[in-house]
Parts: sequence; structure tokens; C-alpha cells
Amino acid sequence: MASASGALACLPSKVVGGQPDFPAGFKWGVASAAAQVESRQGRGRSNWDVFADQKGHIADGSTNAINTEFESRYPEDLAMLGSAGVNAFRFSFAWPRIQPNGPGKPSEAGLALYDRMIDEMLRQGMEPAATMFHWDMPIWAGDFRDRAAARRLADYADILTRRFGDRIPLWLALNEPNSVAAAGYAFGMHAPGLASAEAAGAAVHHQNLAQGLMLAAARANLPKGAKASTTINLQPVRPLTESRDDAQAAQMADAFWNRAWLDPLFGRGYPERVLPLVEPFIRSGDMAVIAVRPEFIGMNYYARVYAQAQAKSPLGFMPKVDGFSDKFIRTQMLPVEPDGLTEMLMRIHTEYGAPDIYVTETGFPLDDPRPVDGIVRDPKRIAYLKSYLQAAHRAIEQGARLRGLYYWSATDNWEWALGFAKTFGLIQVDRATQQRTPKASLAYYAQCIKLNGIA
Ligand code: FCB
Repeated sequence: MASASGALACLPSKVVGGQPDFPAGFKWGVASAAAQVESRQGRGRSNWDVFADQKGHIADGSTNAINTEFESRYPEDLAMLGSAGVNAFRFSFAWPRIQPNGPGKPSEAGLALYDRMIDEMLRQGMEPAATMFHWDMPIWAGDFRDRAAARRLADYADILTRRFGDRIPLWLALNEPNSVAAAGYAFGMHAPGLASAEAAGAAVHHQNLAQGLMLAAARANLPKGAKASTTINLQPVRPLTESRDDAQAAQMADAFWNRAWLDPLFGRGYPERVLPLVEPFIRSGDMAVIAVRPEFIGMNYYARVYAQAQAKSPLGFMPKVDGFSDKFIRTQMLPVEPDGLTEMLMRIHTEYGAPDIYVTETGFPLDDPRPVDGIVRDPKRIAYLKSYLQAAHRAIEQGARLRGLYYWSATDNWEWALGFAKTFGLIQVDRATQQRTPKASLAYYAQCIKLNGIA
């Protein structure tokens, strides 16, 4: 096995420097999700299995059947990360592994697998951060058009926090409910592949409700010192053009993308613009359940969203990330916009009562070369990561209470509807052999961690 420290040799010497410092105890993490790394072996069928098995849904024709076999190969991945000094690991539980066939009693084999994984994270010096729901829903549980999904998720959260609460200090109820509502229910690009305003409205409210109920269960079960909140894909929104229609679209996009989640979570109710979508689903008492007022916020950030007015879109707008090649450097998927990270961190800090913040994902998919001498050379990823760390640090200097950052992703993996072609990892995974090779960016990250600063 090639080691991360071996990769240090290919760092340009000028990046080894050491300023500025991050707060003491800063979590230098990596992130991952069960549905993107675990195979289907040993679990029940999920919504994403159904979606991926239908022709035409996944860009490269792949499925999630094998992925990176993390459920058996995790010791190798965690050892590589541990040797780089990574001190926090964000993973998710596969709901279809915990309750494969129906509600009620969980699978002991499923729970035991996560016992072993968590113990291994701790042994490798990594603090586990657990996402309870990162998009993979057992098919028996239906989807978010059904209000009952919220109660089912609350029972699942109760099972998880009882069993693992003693070893996991940081919990996230949902991952990016805004992406789920948009891509899965409004635009038909993700499971369950729906495209309607009504489905999107239900998915907004029922996920918010699920989150409130899950966090109530977590609060009842978790020991003192363990914290629970949620993770939202928070992106500043801009109009695509200077037209009046796009300006309106940007208002709606910001309400749907950011405020429909943050506002009710902090007890402010839904923003006016999304009310018509969610109102049919709200029942008395719901808003109090949703108003958790968490002590921290998990935020995933990649780039800004550009809103384009579009009459035939169920939401009246389309989020655009394309079309800026002249203006921005781009990865395989997205523009590189570090200043949007500072902007969003400061917005959460100033508008929502200065909670602690964890950047639970940020990362860069790039066309990486094959390994040479046991290392994958990815200088662009290092440069982009450095610019995002600097942007995060600027927000800290301005007062944001940023406590940790989790790079997406530990290893290359299955990028949902985009398949395996988009590679984000600090560790390369060879599709044919499952061979793991560290990238130079892992060694760069190791340097930052050692300095508790930006190398
Ligand atoms: C986020 C998802 C994560 C991963 C990254 C690239 O939206 O939470 O699972 O796919 O994007």
C-alpha cells in the first residue's frame, strides 16, 4: 500500500509555509456517504437502486451495485487517512442496511458493521461525524410525498442514536434536503425522479418535519457533549443575467434553496415565496417541531447557484452552473468560487445568531492522471483546496464560528446520476481493481493538518 507521507515528495516546496492558523481543536475531516461507497451486499433495496437500474438515468451507464466496497475495504481507506493525520471522518449510515425490509426491529448484522467501522475510525484517530440520512431510502419507506416518511425517519434516528450515541460526538440528521427536494422532486434528475411543484412542496415540508422529529429523538438519546443538527447545501444565489425575470428567479431560488431550510429551523417559519408550495402540507404543531434552533449548522459548499427564470420549470427557475467558462476556472462539474464560501459563512453567522458551523463538504472533481510511482499528481486540486481554506479562514477572521471542514471526498466514488466519471477523492480508486492510491492532495491536506493552518 502506498502511503500518504510518500506523496509529500511531490509537493512544490513553496506551499510548505504555515500561515494562517485555524482555531484550536479544528476538525480537519473528510466526508463520504454510504450510497456512494458501499456495495449493495447485505442490505435491502433502496430508492437509488431502483433509479440507477432504470436505463438512461446514470450518465455513464453505471450503477451503485459495487461502488468502492467500503463495507469491506474500510480498514485500508481509514488507515491511509489516519496516517495523513485526518482527525475527523464524516460517513453515513445506509438506512436500507439498518432496516432492510420494513419498520421496527433493526438488522443486527447492519448495526454490527457500523460498530466495527466506527471503532476503526476511532482507532485511526478520527472523530466520527454521522449523517443519518444521505439520500438512500429503503423502498419499503416510500418517498417524501408521504408524510409518514417523517415518522419512519424519526424511528430510524432513535435506533441510531441509542446504539451509537456513546461513540459519535457529531450528528447530522439529513444531508442536503434542498438538493433532494430540487433534484429528486422538482427537476427529476435524482431518485425518485419526480418533476412537479406539488411533489417538491411535499418534499420540502416533510423533510423539514423529519429533521425536527429526528433531532428530538437525538436530543433525548445522546449523552452530554454529543451534538446534533443537519447539513444543508448552502450556496449564495445570483441572477444568471441582468434581466428582471432572472432577478425575480434569484429571489425564488434563494428562498427555495437556502431560506426554506434555515428560516424554519431557527423558528422563523417559511419564507413567503415558498409558502404556496408547502402550505398544503403543514399541520398544526409542525412548525414548532421543525424549529430546533440547533447549536451548530452543517453546510456543504461547492459554488454559487445562478438562477435563470424559466416558465416551464415547476419552481419557475432553473439553477445554472454552466456557461461561465470565460469567467471562472472550472472543475469537471462546477466553477471554482472560493469567495462564495466566505459570503455564505458570514451570512449564516450574521443572520442566524452566530451558531457554530461545520463545512461538512467541499471538494473538486478533476480528471486525475493514472498513478506514477505510487502517487496521483493533482496540483490543481491542491491549488483549489488552498483557495477554499483561505476563504474559510477569512470568514473566521470576520467572526464566523467555523469549527471544522470535511473535504469531499475521502476516495473517488459514485457521483449519483453522474456515475464514476467525476472524481473528487483525496485517494484514487481504480475502477477495475479497486486499488487505492493516495493523491498529492492528501499529502497537502496532511501538511495543513499538521500546521493547523494553510500550507
Ligand atoms: C453533494 C452531495 C454528496 C456529493 C457531492 C459532490 O451535493 O451531498 O453526496 O455527491 O455533492
